[in-house]
Amino acid sequence: MAGRDIKTRVNSLELIESLELIESLEPIESLELIKGFELVKRRRNKDFLMNDALSGSRHTLTSETAAETTPSIESDSLAVTASGLEKTVVARDNRLTILSRLDLQVKSGESVAIVGTSGSGKSTLLGILAGLDLPTAGSVSLAGKRIDHLDEDQRATVRGQHTGFVFQSFQLLANLTALENVMLPLELAGVDNPGERARKLLTRVGLEHRLEHYPKQLSGGEQQRVAIARAFAGEPDILFADEPTGNLDEKTGESIIELLFEVNQASGTTIILVTHDMDLARRCQRILKLHGGRLEAVV
Ligand SMILES: Nc1ncnc2c1ncn2[C@@H]1O[C@H](COP(=O)(O)OP(=O)(O)OP(=O)(O)O)[C@@H](O)[C@H]1O
Ligand SMILES: [Mg+2]
Repeated sequence: MAGRDIKTRVNSLELIESLELIESLEPIESLELIKGFELVKRRRNKDFLMNDALSGSRHTLTSETAAETTPSIESDSLAVTASGLEKTVVARDNRLTILSRLDLQVKSGESVAIVGTSGSGKSTLLGILAGLDLPTAGSVSLAGKRIDHLDEDQRATVRGQHTGFVFQSFQLLANLTALENVMLPLELAGVDNPGERARKLLTRVGLEHRLEHYPKQLSGGEQQRVAIARAFAGEPDILFADEPTGNLDEKTGESIIELLFEVNQASGTTIILVTHDMDLARRCQRILKLHGGRLEAVV
């Protein structure tokens, strides 16, 4: 069912891209597309709200779809497993190997920092671990579920159940306010009082005075904080964060770091983050360096 598919894509890049596509279309075309997504577009073509057909219990949804789509393997205490990962891309007839024979195991509740030089493949790796991208070879499991052989919709289901993702480039929806950007995944998941919850999350990241601002009216650091609030919105078991403090001043960065580790400790959230900031990396239980396509422990 189309409605259920959308709801399972709470954290999915594809949904974000779909909505961006909608925003770029002529009003009449976008209305058709939105109908297809069972979304209702309101208020001067600016806001998206879910129609009633999409409200309902997120838990019913996830248990149902999990049984249907996600074969599981026994590894309850492991949040993320990657084995023999390869990622090769072809750019202008050149084959580029980004990841090579890479192995990783991250336990539930663990915090892991991935460091490495620019271009070493950190964002590529994070995208593959989160099921946003596929490896060329090798296996990836999230919360005990093998995801590398699932199709896009099935991966979206697993992501919706387990992950939050803070993108290096934020990926906020330009035509939604800060509040609406954080509300969207909550509405898609059928959570009660999404506005109130989104407001609380934005207050936690110090943006209570910017709720009605659109992304282009926010500074880079403010956009980053909206992206962090949005990633937390679905209370993910596993949070992937690509340079979560990359655009923040020291003091704001520190408060975001506090928030990350508070959630890690209070809710047992597994955190896998990419950073160039060694102070942040050292706050994690483990630091791994991506070098030559593989991960090495940093001691
Ligand atoms: N689809 C693609 N096609 C061609 N090259 C790619 C593709 N995706 C990534 N690359 C290249 O692979 C390398 C790794 O990219 P990636 O974004 O993962 O690096 P990174 O470690 O996150 O870098 P940064 O610290 O600058 O964010 C880069 O050299 C990039 O240009
Ligand atoms: Mg990167």
